[in-house]
Amino acid sequence: MRSLSILVFLMLCNVAVSTFKLSNRKIAKEYREALKKFNTAPQNVPQFQKMNLPDTTIGPDKAARRSSYKNFKKYSELVNEINHDDTFSFTAEINKFSIESESDLNTHFGMNMSASFDDEMFENDTDFEFEPQDEAVEKRDAVELPESINWSYTMSEPEHQRKCGSCWAFSAISSVESAYYRATGLRKKFSYQELVDCVFEEKRWGNGCKGASINTGFLWVTRQKRLASREDYKYVAKDGECKKNTTLNSYINVGLKRLYRVPKTESALLQAVVEGVVSVGVKGGRSLLAYKSGIYYDRYLCRATAYPNHAVNLVGYGEEGGKKYWLIRNSWGKDWGEGGYYRMTRDHKNHCKIHETALRLDIQCYNRKQCEEQKKVNELKKQIETELV
Ligand SMILES: *[C@@H]1O[C@H](CO)[C@@H](O)[C@H](O)[C@H]1NC(C)=O
Ligand SMILES: *[C@@H]1O[C@H](CO)[C@@H](O)[C@H](O)[C@H]1NC(C)=O
Ligand SMILES: *[C@@H]1O[C@H](CO)[C@@H](O)[C@H](O)[C@H]1NC(C)=O
Ligand SMILES: *[C@@H]1O[C@H](CO)[C@@H](O)[C@H](O)[C@H]1NC(C)=O
Repeated sequence: MRSLSILVFLMLCNVAVSTFKLSNRKIAKEYREALKKFNTAPQNVPQFQKMNLPDTTIGPDKAARRSSYKNFKKYSELVNEINHDDTFSFTAEINKFSIESESDLNTHFGMNMSASFDDEMFENDTDFEFEPQDEAVEKRDAVELPESINWSYTMSEPEHQRKCGSCWAFSAISSVESAYYRATGLRKKFSYQELVDCVFEEKRWGNGCKGASINTGFLWVTRQKRLASREDYKYVAKDGECKKNTTLNSYINVGLKRLYRVPKTESALLQAVVEGVVSVGVKGGRSLLAYKSGIYYDRYLCRATAYPNHAVNLVGYGEEGGKKYWLIRNSWGKDWGEGGYYRMTRDHKNHCKIHETALRLDIQCYNRKQCEEQKKVNELKKQIETELV
């Protein structure tokens, strides 16, 4: 009897394993398709399209090709596992990241915790207030919160940081853009590259494409009191010279009035995002790169000892089918995930360490008169619109 049940158990296991497992032939086919679809670099296309993979015998760059295929295989197996294992409550896909080398995959994050938030950094900025704890949040303990929040309408379309660890700049700029829109009603696109270049120049602040903390981005905004537009100071995804002295006519006077560190609890974070967009650090990795849709949860990647390595924007929260989620804006382009966003499990033991480094801000409008006038115009417009409806 016992041996029979063991046999049945083994058979069941076998069935389970074999539905998980992809054949080499299937992976090779997926690889060819992924290369065609995502490898758009013109110098690679003909070479790769002629290849009959898996083949490690042609071409001078055999080692690179072999490692590229090996890496794809790992990626594809992870995608398959996520899509078949119910403990992952989201779906994954073969995407633009799947054909990248191991070292390239690591360039899509870029948050450096060791240059962490430090109020001394702001000691010379007298018209700026740093609040080590968000007091508003602590006081409003019993306030009833909305069922869901979604600030994405205050933001521009998500763009791709590409092979540069500049997530910290994307996160800082996106928070500023949302706050600026809410203060003035004007949609502005500020330059990511300006932060990358200028923080890189001030080495002690961070390291441009090699990563920095989110607050170094905010520090730059505070110091400069003006930001270039994305159109004039274009994103090139590599470290460059800080164009500090140029007089771009697109500069906009904007600074930070207050920066709050959100207390490291679930309820504080929830209340902070009711106030506005929050810049947060999270743990990211392969399963996040492969995310397609659903509510992200990865108990392996985001285990207890994980630390944040990726800066993003918390833009809201909600609930779907009884599952609570955070709504997060990423910097991997709008063709990634749910239109450039992802949802992650909420109220779930600080999953992916989202409480760890959360910053909320109020912006300073240096041209106060213009901002106030603009605000009035916008309020009037809104009133007229609602009356017309
Ligand atoms: C993070 O920043 C610290 C201090 O600026 C630096 O020493 C360290 O090398 C950085 N880490 C990485 C992985 O770049
Ligand atoms: C503030 O200014 C003093 C004097 O110029 C300087 O020594 C110090 O490094 C500055 N602090 C920061 C964080 O820049
Ligand atoms: C958030 O709002 C945007 C419109 O601004 C909408 O397209 C999107 O589906 C919303 N996301 C969620 C998760 O509700
Ligand atoms: C450019 O700016 C730097 C520092 O902000 C300053 O030291 C330098 O003199 C400026 N150069 C010119 C040509 O204005």
